[in-house]
Amino acid sequence: MKSFNIQNRRYLGNKFKLLNSIKELVTKKCGNYSSFIDLFSGTSVVANSFNSNKVRIITNDLLYSNYVIAKSFFEITKSPNKLAKKIEILNSIKTNKANYFSKNFGNKYFTKDNAIKIGAIREKIEKISSNSDEKFILITSLIYAADRIANTVGHYDAYRENLDTRGKLELQAPNIDYRKNKNNKVYCMDANILANEIKGDVVYIDPPYNSRQYSDTYHLLDNLASWNKPDVFGKAKKMDRSHIKSKYCSKDAGYEFQDLITKLNAKHIIVSYNNTENTKHGRSNAKISFNQIKKILMKKGKTEINQIDFKAFTTGKSKTENHKEILFYCRVK
Ligand SMILES: C[S@@+](CC[C@H](N)C(=O)[O-])C[C@H]1O[C@@H](n2cnc3c(N)ncnc32)[C@H](O)[C@@H]1O
Repeated sequence: MKSFNIQNRRYLGNKFKLLNSIKELVTKKCGNYSSFIDLFSGTSVVANSFNSNKVRIITNDLLYSNYVIAKSFFEITKSPNKLAKKIEILNSIKTNKANYFSKNFGNKYFTKDNAIKIGAIREKIEKISSNSDEKFILITSLIYAADRIANTVGHYDAYRENLDTRGKLELQAPNIDYRKNKNNKVYCMDANILANEIKGDVVYIDPPYNSRQYSDTYHLLDNLASWNKPDVFGKAKKMDRSHIKSKYCSKDAGYEFQDLITKLNAKHIIVSYNNTENTKHGRSNAKISFNQIKKILMKKGKTEINQIDFKAFTTGKSKTENHKEILFYCRVK
């Protein structure tokens, strides 16, 4: 059976290409550490690169779809018994009966046939999963498979008018290294609330940079993962997302960041940030300034700034010349 890795998906602002720089910085600055917290984990590729028998991983993200994926990759310690068989059963479903998913998303984000199949598979997962581990993995497999054939430029703020992404849906098995997952913990919470409850050696912070809400760009994957079948609205067919709106995308971002850093109980803090403060596209402008972050971190401990050349994954509209990714490092007092 074909398989996929955690990084095999499209996600705005993912730091896959920055992993070497983050690892280098941690190796240089953090000495011996036994826990690593990825507080705004998105795809969780950063946490994944630190997951080992010796390091306890904690991940967190507001989006339920990211939570399901992180649960599969980091908390499950043994492969479910009949996983391959169940994936085969799901792949072999044949139906042309309309369902919630095809009615709302067919001939838009997916071809009609693919949308029918995605909806039918999601329904079947509810019935054939023998336990929650298995269910998390099967939903993860479906999210990656659907995303691979979606008629989009990599997010669900809109679909392409020409329905020209006609690949066939195929669920694959996630490559999970179960042996590393003994002590890990995965959360789906507001980072500022979670910060009161956890502590760790190294905390990596990668909040949204601008006013683009991840709940707007990945609503469809959250809808598919949670499967509450809510009403959807407008051309982009989004559900009510008030419960997953991030304050980091609002004018309160600076206040939120300060509140978070004050609360954090950690020895080392690493913050990713980029230099898109002054682009022409309003939605892409950073909500917290470089100087604000620096000032807030300096109060928490000795702070250094590392600049890295980086070609970000964007939708193509908002290209920034000389895009620089910044890694702040703060040794907490
Ligand atoms: C820049 S992305 C992180 C990308 C991630 N480092 C990666 O490599 O894929 C920011 C993430 O923060 C999440 N987020 C936004 N506000 C949040 C909050 N208040 N608490 C927790 N997560 C939040 C978003 O859902 C999004 O996945």
